[in-house]
Amino acid sequence: MNENMNTRIHECESRVNSLEQISDSSFIHEFEAPEIAAKSKPGHFLQVRISKSYAPFLPRPFSVLDTDCAKGTVRILYKVFGETTAVLATKKAGDSVVLLGPLGNTFNINRYNEILLVAGGIGIPPLYNLLKNEDISDKNVKLFFGASSKNELYLFNEFAKMPINLTVTTDDGSFGEKQFITVPFEIELNKIGNKVNAVILACGPMAMLRTVQKLALEHNIPAQLSVETIMACGIGICQGCVLPGHNEKKYSLVCTDGPIFNEKELIL
Ligand SMILES: Cc1cc2nc3c(=O)[nH]c(=O)nc-3n(C[C@H](O)[C@H](O)[C@H](O)COP(=O)(O)OP(=O)(O)OC[C@H]3O[C@@H](n4cnc5c(N)ncnc54)[C@H](O)[C@@H]3O)c2cc1C
Ligand code: FES
Repeated sequence: MNENMNTRIHECESRVNSLEQISDSSFIHEFEAPEIAAKSKPGHFLQVRISKSYAPFLPRPFSVLDTDCAKGTVRILYKVFGETTAVLATKKAGDSVVLLGPLGNTFNINRYNEILLVAGGIGIPPLYNLLKNEDISDKNVKLFFGASSKNELYLFNEFAKMPINLTVTTDDGSFGEKQFITVPFEIELNKIGNKVNAVILACGPMAMLRTVQKLALEHNIPAQLSVETIMACGIGICQGCVLPGHNEKKYSLVCTDGPIFNEKELIL
């Protein structure tokens, strides 16, 4: 567990500021949470409990999409999957939720000048947060963004305005090339070799992360892979989020050792 975790994490009842539907089943929520906004960095996540009555019993984890410290707000972008996200999507301005965070570790791009970002669908929030909140002015940034279809290329218009090189693919060919995003990403790695001071940052489905991990190891480029598992407590107590790893324990807790791991840490 991070040594500053106890002073960093806040639990609060938070008011919903706004709810925006961005596709058939995806939403952006903005919450009032000044303490969390002040301490959150790109890569962190929140545990969101939709009701004080403990039904559903467990909170759910969501990456921080971005923060506004002046307003004291934090946003998440999510897709409706099951019970909690379905109810969350009904929470309107003025309603409340319980937030715990910021949780987990963060990306670090300080010592690199070539930043290669790989996102799959709903894995985009932590990478968006990084592009919005880190100073990338002296870096060469390339974003490889793949989704099942055009509707799931979340925040595409915002990425198109950023000073980055953007490559997009979809599984159904509704936008960009019809292929997995790891295809153009591999072509890029073959072009740059291992000559540059590069780092790979990725978040998305496990199959995509597995390929990115393999490519990072083959090309000898360091990677920071943001991983999702089913979680219960989010703070290292329940052991519900374990993934097999190469450390002496032979496993890692995604909530407190991660969710960001380097390319050598986990067996994905
Ligand atoms: C660190 C972290 C960050 C995340 N960030 C985001 C985010 O920014 N946006 C977003 O939309 N989602 C994110 N998720 C996933 C999100 O937590 C799940 O979608 C959510 O918990 C589903 O809750 P539910 O009650 O609606 O669905 P449930 O009823 O709990 O589950 C519905 C179905 O989805 C499966 N499922 C639930 N959670 C996960 C998971 N984490 N991985 C794979 N399958 C799962 C269940 O097995 C079930 O089949 C993140 C997960 C983690 C661990
Ligand atoms: S979710 Fe409980 S230990 Fe990670």
